[in-house]
Amino acid sequence: ERGAEVLVASNRGPVSYGLADDGALTAKRGGGGLVSGLSAIGPDAGAVWVCAALSDADREAVRRTGGRLDPADTGGQAVRMLDIDPGVFDGAYNGIANSVLWFVHHMLYQIPLEPVFDAAFREQWAAYETYNAAFADALAEEAADGAAVLVQDYHLALVPGMLRERRPDVRISHFSHTPWAPPEYLRILPDDVRDQLIWGMLGADRLGFLTRRWASAFTSECAGRWDHMSVTTTHGVTPQRWYVEHTRTQLPPTRTTDVDVHPLGADAAFLRERAHRPDVGERLAALREEIGDGRKVIVRVDRTELSKNIVRGLHAYARLLETHPEWRENVVHVAFAYPSRQDLAVYRDYTAEVARVAGTINDTYGTATWRPVILHVKDDFARSLAAYRLADVALVNPIRDGMNLVAKEVPVVSDDGCALVLSREAGAAEELAEGALTVNPYDIEATAAALHEALTMEPEERAERTKRLAAAATALPPQSWFLAQLEALRD
Ligand code: G6P
Repeated sequence: ERGAEVLVASNRGPVSYGLADDGALTAKRGGGGLVSGLSAIGPDAGAVWVCAALSDADREAVRRTGGRLDPADTGGQAVRMLDIDPGVFDGAYNGIANSVLWFVHHMLYQIPLEPVFDAAFREQWAAYETYNAAFADALAEEAADGAAVLVQDYHLALVPGMLRERRPDVRISHFSHTPWAPPEYLRILPDDVRDQLIWGMLGADRLGFLTRRWASAFTSECAGRWDHMSVTTTHGVTPQRWYVEHTRTQLPPTRTTDVDVHPLGADAAFLRERAHRPDVGERLAALREEIGDGRKVIVRVDRTELSKNIVRGLHAYARLLETHPEWRENVVHVAFAYPSRQDLAVYRDYTAEVARVAGTINDTYGTATWRPVILHVKDDFARSLAAYRLADVALVNPIRDGMNLVAKEVPVVSDDGCALVLSREAGAAEELAEGALTVNPYDIEATAAALHEALTMEPEERAERTKRLAAAATALPPQSWFLAQLEALRD
């Protein structure tokens, strides 16, 4: 039997399951930019999506289906879910992917004390290798002759090299949904680990990044390995492309990996339709009620993620209330901070800190008639869309972010135009800098000043900027983003 012509591989798949007391499984769409982007592929592309079971409920779904999920749960998408040993999964996902690679690429370590690469780390690294090998095995099994395999993100950095060994005939790409650390920061990793990551990825025919900045950090890393690699680029051509020629032995044959940039955009048609369904309308009414009449609204929507800089955002809002008392009673900060990666203590602590700081602001400035911060933590996509629609200002201030789709979704969905305060460290700033008010995310005074400027922006200017933002945000919608990668791979 011939296998699939197109395969996609990612840690998180399009759905995750919940298990009710009566044993019923319920499917729920996953969060994060990767799933938002890939979900748009649609069943028509004929791709098989290989992903990991992330929870006991997912493992139960794999047991009941043999790993080929019910199309009714996935919107028709063919999905093969892998049941990887929970201990291995934990070491790979919580240990290496989220506590090491995520931290390195987002530069999140508190350097004087972290990281510590000890024996426990080595065990996790072995788990990461095993987990990557499980994906490589499944892909090798599923792929037709000469198939195109699109591997996603830092969880699966070793898969291209491992799959190349198993199946020299297939075409392989790898796409990073995160930033890439500059060479000086990547040097934190143990040398052998860093080598394995680079060589694992260079097993691919092509590598994709969300912005020029991340692609060029990666190719700088390669250029520094001049005894094994040489890098050339197409200067002045848009989109820019790099060619990494590499050989492990300094002897032929050399191989070439193309590196290019595909800035994932928002799906306007999907978002606008979804944002006008009745469930969003209901939440809009409820939010308006909560906010109160005649008040301006500053909205933020994030996973409660260290890199999203939610705490500094709250401090900037407090500073706004302090320096511009005229906003007291007249503005509300609607902050949706949805739980993420709660197996990690540092994420749990951060979640608690967000709630604490929001509470302090409410205690300091709140009155009988006005709650300055409305914090919601229960994940609700319809309510997020309602907030996008009514926002006067959106605050997107990550300290580092691969792209940030919220910055691209808000201008598309907004009812009356929305001013965007955007961190210059978000990948999205490469395309949105013109329409947004960009800020240094560490600078609380500057962020507070930008919030004030955004709140006082004339309606005409706001509408005009929103239009420009929406155009830039939808330049490469997910379907085109996916097809561009597929085409690049088939070239
Ligand atoms: C980022 C990553 C994705 C990940 C998402 C959600 O966007 O690039 O790979 O799926 O965060 O994180 P989680 O750990 O919940 O999958």
